[in-house]
Amino acid sequence: MKRSQPDQPDTSQATGLLSRCTPRHEWNADLASQWLQQRFGRPWKRADLLQALIVIQHHFGSVTPVAQQWLAHHCQTDRAEIRALIHFYHFLEEDDPLPLRIRFASNIIEQHQGLQALLEQLQHSVHQHARVSKTACIGLSDQGPAALVNGFPLTHLNARRIEAIAEKLQQQVPLQEWPAEWFRVEENVRVAGPLLSFHPDPGNFIPNIRARDPHAIINEIKTAGLRGRGGAGFPTGVKWEHCAATPAPQRYVVCNADEGEPGTFKDRVLLQRHADAVFCGMALCGHAIGARHGIVYLRGEYLFLFAPLQQRLQHWRTQQWLGDHFDIEIHLGAGAYVCGEETALLESVEGKRGIPRVKPPFPVQHGLFGMPTVVNNVETFAAAAWIAEQGADAFRQSGTPQSAGTHVHSVSGDCAKPGIYELPFGTPLDQLLTLCGATDCVLVQVGGPSGVMVDSSGFQQPLAHESMSPGGSIMVFDHSRAHLDIARNFTAFFKDESCGFCTPCRAGCQILQRDLQQPSHRIDTQALRQLAQLVNDTSHCGLGQTAGRPVLFWLDREHP
Ligand SMILES: Cc1cc2nc3c(=O)[nH]c(=O)nc-3n(C[C@H](O)[C@H](O)[C@H](O)COP(=O)(O)O)c2cc1C
Ligand code: SF4
Repeated sequence: MKRSQPDQPDTSQATGLLSRCTPRHEWNADLASQWLQQRFGRPWKRADLLQALIVIQHHFGSVTPVAQQWLAHHCQTDRAEIRALIHFYHFLEEDDPLPLRIRFASNIIEQHQGLQALLEQLQHSVHQHARVSKTACIGLSDQGPAALVNGFPLTHLNARRIEAIAEKLQQQVPLQEWPAEWFRVEENVRVAGPLLSFHPDPGNFIPNIRARDPHAIINEIKTAGLRGRGGAGFPTGVKWEHCAATPAPQRYVVCNADEGEPGTFKDRVLLQRHADAVFCGMALCGHAIGARHGIVYLRGEYLFLFAPLQQRLQHWRTQQWLGDHFDIEIHLGAGAYVCGEETALLESVEGKRGIPRVKPPFPVQHGLFGMPTVVNNVETFAAAAWIAEQGADAFRQSGTPQSAGTHVHSVSGDCAKPGIYELPFGTPLDQLLTLCGATDCVLVQVGGPSGVMVDSSGFQQPLAHESMSPGGSIMVFDHSRAHLDIARNFTAFFKDESCGFCTPCRAGCQILQRDLQQPSHRIDTQALRQLAQLVNDTSHCGLGQTAGRPVLFWLDREHP
């Protein structure tokens, strides 16, 4: 059998870590120890458990009972806790007898591009060699249909490529030997504004900010009017100020790179080509709030970015741009949209299930390991670095008084030029639609399933916090798309991603999904409306509080 079964971990370079590989399946405690040593570079502890599970899963294909026992013993915990983690994160598995796992992105864009037929084609031909299934959006809607094979992205799938993949699987060709172009992730930058033209030199940036007064940095961010790019638009300077003002022995800077909102992929591109700007923004925040530890929480779907980002951080260390004063580490997610919610994310970084905490207290008061913590989006950190270099006045020159600067939009769906568009806040939606070649646009989902659905009556609205908060994604739908199918897809997404902690969201999403599956003439629209509203009104966190929206938009439009 032609399978790669390395007896030694690849220690030749840091990028050997979690690189594309076909896992071995026999448990070997010595090898596991070595891989974990390579991953952490230090003794690892209970808080590293999720990261340890990801490493074990990656190299052994699953976390079998014997591996669970071994991990439990190391962390002085019991196996039940480990199993609870495995069951929470979609990408962790207890037992998988097949060497390869292929997950097709199933968001509405890929559904419209014919993912179901491709999935069935592959399933049919390789069922004894690989497990084939669906997953949520993997951040590649601009180059789909796409899938992950053992965590690594396969883009631009079509019937011919599926046939070629099936052949590789049947011949048991190791993943490392598959053609590199199948794994190519394009940047697809269509319009680059100031942020996407920004390439700071950390050699100047880091000493400059270290010489600056932390209060002055926070004031400049406040004066610039920077608002968080992760969706809610909270003023960034105010967040940093609260964190700096909370007395504590230490503080943390956390970069939210979970980017799980279907249709969003701007953070992927920022991390691919502007990692220095993001790290500069984190270091700036660290200096402003008095933190020495930074963490990038990178969604598991972006595993392909893990090695290059690690390598870049290593370069920063050798240049002493990172070190004792401030350092950054990367934590991987393992397939759980809810972990983008900032408190769920902190739980996950602590190695637990990502169940959102009760707020208040907010992370700026009681965050990671109980310490004051700033959580910001990837784009927010890059924009903060831009402001530190170019100044608040320059930043305010674009955008609107309430929404300063530019915003990076991820555009996908029925348009000629899907990809990344950086535009000033306040740009009317129809201008963006013209730019991307959406000539037959009937509906636009702004901000992903948790955002808003806009029809032609709203196309002239500006994309700004004061009118239509843009979030990260713009999904375009033409006249051939059924609104009910979109609502079904989004509701299924929320059902799959509900963490199950509170009843309105857990049970409500299941019932919404079940009722929506019926033929449209049999749907009790009044009952459905009441339930969707109830889910929104009574759920614990932002996921449930927006989960009823797709249903309500469909009802408002087709059953007013
Ligand atoms: C279910 C859910 C998922 C979220 N996912 C993300 C995400 O992937 N990235 C992100 O930056 N913010 C996400 N957020 C928002 C975060 O909770 C938080 O507001 C944000 O990281 C703060 O950063 P900002 O102030 O820079 O926007 C999510 C919120 C919810 C409720
Ligand atoms: S609203 Fe949903 S995702 Fe949020 S805590 Fe409740 S069950 Fe979990």
